Amino acid sequence: MPLMNALKLRHSTREFSDRPLPSQTLSDLLWAAFGINRPNGYRTAPCGRYIIAIDIYVAMNNGVWIYEPKTHALLPHLSSDIRAQTGLQDFVGTAPLNLVYVAHGERLMDETHEERRLLASVDTGFIGQNVYLFCASEGLATVFRGSVDYPKLQRTLKLPRQQFVTFAQTVGYPRRA
Ligand SMILES: Cc1cc2nc3c(=O)[nH]c(=O)nc-3n(C[C@H](O)[C@H](O)[C@H](O)COP(=O)(O)O)c2cc1C
Repeated sequence: MPLMNALKLRHSTREFSDRPLPSQTLSDLLWAAFGINRPNGYRTAPCGRYIIAIDIYVAMNNGVWIYEPKTHALLPHLSSDIRAQTGLQDFVGTAPLNLVYVAHGERLMDETHEERRLLASVDTGFIGQNVYLFCASEGLATVFRGSVDYPKLQRTLKLPRQQFVTFAQTVGYPRRA
């Protein structure tokens, strides 16, 4: 789809079908979100201070996976279904996919705490918009989310102390009335 059309269609949706995403769609979604698009390893979204600090955790009914862009693979992280814990809205528990954006704070240690949070949030926002535009172009539904119980999700994902969740984003097919 031409970019101008995708921009015209971009919007947030909060009603999802429980239909799973085909694996090719998931693969394309993750590449669009934050895949490698150049030999130097940089990505489809920019990053502040030349530092790639965001990982995408993928929460589905079959567990939690980490997107590994170098091999364009999903690495297993947890085997349980934690979708309901990725946000405070009901649809997160039944939509097929919740992306959880995790910042490697330890890669930004030269920054102040405030600057670290700012960089991680901005980097995440660019990824989120890539996801919005991919979803618009594929007829998928999505919503970027800050409504998250952060301490609880940090524990659920077993993140080390320096890593932190910035935002989450639900993706699926729209629920038809
Ligand atoms: C930083 C940020 C946090 C957001 N958090 C939530 C959220 O927790 N839950 C939600 O339903 N929508 C959330 N949204 C989506 C906004 O509500 C939505 O983008 C806005 O209402 C405009 O609607 P649109 O995306 O359809 O243009 C968030 C958006 C941004 C940018």
